[in-house]
Parts: sequence; structure tokens; C-alpha cells
Amino acid sequence: MTAMRWDGSTFPEFKPNCSSLLYRHLSEPAFEQLKDKITGSGFTFAQAINSGVVNQDSSIGIYAGDAESYTLFSALFDPIIADYHGFTKTDIHRSNLNMKTLSAPNPDPDGLYILSTRIRVGRNVAEVPLGPALSREQRNTIESQVAKSLCNLSGELAGTYYPLLGMDETVRDQLVADHFLFKAGDRFLDAAGLNRDWPEGRGIFHNREKTFLVWVNEEDQLRIISMQQGGDIEAVFTRLVTAVKEIEKTVTFMFDQRLGYVTSCPTNLGTAMRASVHIRLPKLAADMPAFKNIADSHHLQIRGIHGEHSESESGIFDISNKRRLGVTEVECVQDMYNGVVALINKEKEL
Ligand code: ARG
Repeated sequence: MTAMRWDGSTFPEFKPNCSSLLYRHLSEPAFEQLKDKITGSGFTFAQAINSGVVNQDSSIGIYAGDAESYTLFSALFDPIIADYHGFTKTDIHRSNLNMKTLSAPNPDPDGLYILSTRIRVGRNVAEVPLGPALSREQRNTIESQVAKSLCNLSGELAGTYYPLLGMDETVRDQLVADHFLFKAGDRFLDAAGLNRDWPEGRGIFHNREKTFLVWVNEEDQLRIISMQQGGDIEAVFTRLVTAVKEIEKTVTFMFDQRLGYVTSCPTNLGTAMRASVHIRLPKLAADMPAFKNIADSHHLQIRGIHGEHSESESGIFDISNKRRLGVTEVECVQDMYNGVVALINKEKEL
């Protein structure tokens, strides 16, 4: 798909098959009201919606350049946030990282269905813009600050930071083999300004056991990831929470009273948490309506296992919570757990 150009001054043209939330919620009066607004960090409305205008197959199509984007451009962000999360203007987000309140014993102790479990949260550093509006210097400063904090982790979390800039071939090959490397050149991120100065300022940290991973300066400044083989969801959640709390001792994260953790994409606001399993469900795969039905009733999203925008392969799916804002972290994981239990029960029945 060749990217089109758009100068931001006139109402964007949408193709007839466009179904993004941007398309659905951007009215001409809203565009006129917002088009000349610019945030304190110099982020324009045209920059916010550029990704969805040039990538007409976007599902969302808008990014924030800073916390202020969510208020200055609220005439568009609020309806999009309400549509995606069911979170209204008067709702207030609440966090709950207390692992004692989670009940998610391994739904597949015999290892027949669940291949692996992964939970991530997005975080951004307080007092600087988000990725789409960061300057090169700000991005580099974040990288050194975060890398330093990560390199001080101890015990199970201790590991190494690998900057993308100047990375040697053997390290790169190993990170690719482990599926740890984030992809370069993503066109959605590109049009949002998130690939500027690539690969400078980006990198990956992981512990020795490869169960704890941090992406630095991808879509969000930090993507903190806990993962392991099998279905021990509680162990994965516990490791994630421990890591987040450790990092928080040296890095202050951007947090908004109403929206929770502030992220560049509105889908990640609130908990910024995606809790997922890779799961083999060959029988359900042959009955997609039943599969989708169970997924929807538990607020789950079905993806292929090669990341977002990928197709399923041989009956293996990536299943995750869809809601992230207006629910707590524990509720996100509980959504995923309850749905996975229901899916496994249905698979057994078929
Ligand atoms: N901007 C892309 C779209 O609108 C991705 C949206 C959600 N995914 C994400 N990684 N933030 O389709």
C-alpha cells in the first residue's frame, strides 16, 4: 500500500471501505474546530490523525503526542475512547495491581492447549512528550535513563540492555529467533511520527531466563513484558507487577487522574495492559462464529500469533483482553483467564 500525502488543512478523504474509529467519529464540524489546535509540545491535530488518514485500513487511526492531546483534541478522542473502551467522559479509571485479588490458577495444567502466556503494560515517562512528539534528544535521554534503571534490576529480573543502534548481527539474529525484536518500518507507527531517527534511541532489555523483557521507545517509551511457556498466568502477572514496581522506584510514569497510564494510542489508556495466551484450538478454529461468540462475551480479542494484523496459523491463536481502560489490571487478567477457561471447555466439548 503506497502512503498518500495529506497536508492537514482540509477535511481528509476517506475511502468507501474505511471503517476506522477515526473515520466514524471525525465529523466536518469537529475537524474545523480542531484543525488549527496545537499542544504545548508542538503537536498538531494533523499529526494526531495522520496515521489513520494515510493508512485507511487502520482500526483506530489516531495517536496522542502528549497528555494534553487527550484534552485539547477531546472532541475526537472522547468519542473514540467511549467507542473502544465503553468509557465515558464522567468515568474515572482505577488501578489495581494487587496480585492477591487475582484468581487465575493454570487453566491447562497438562499443557494440552496453552503454549505460552504473556502480559505487557505500556508506560511513558512523566514530564516529556509521548513518542509521536519527542525530539531526538528527549528520546535519547529517555533511553539512557531507562536503560540505567533496567540494568540495576537484580535477581530474576537482572539482564542486559541491547540498543538497536549498532547492534551486531549475532545479537540481532538471536533476538529475532526469540521473537523479541520489534518490527522496523511499521507503517502505522511511521505515519504517526514514531519511527523518526530510527533506530537511534531504541532498544530491548531482557533477563537471562528470557521471561522478562522491556522494549524501549517503540510505540510507547516502555513496553514492560512478562512471559513464559505454558499457562501459569499468576506467575506471569506476579513477575510483571514486581518489575513495574522496581522500575517505578527510579522512573516516574505519566499518569492521568481520569485516563490512568497515558499511552500514545488510545486503545492502551488506563491499565495499558494486554494479557494474552498463545493457544491451540483446532476445533473452535473450524467454527469461527462460536469462537467469536465466546471471545466477545468475555471481552477478548482474537489475533494471529505473528503479532497484530497477522492471521492465525494451524489453529493457534493469540487471545487477549480487549478492555484496558475503566477496568483494573486484575480485571484485565481476569477477563482473559475466564475467557480462556470458557474456550478450553468448548474445545473439549467439540
Ligand atoms: N493505529 C493502528 C490502527 O489504527 C493500531 C491501533 C491499535 N494497535 C496499537 N498497537 N496501538 O489500526
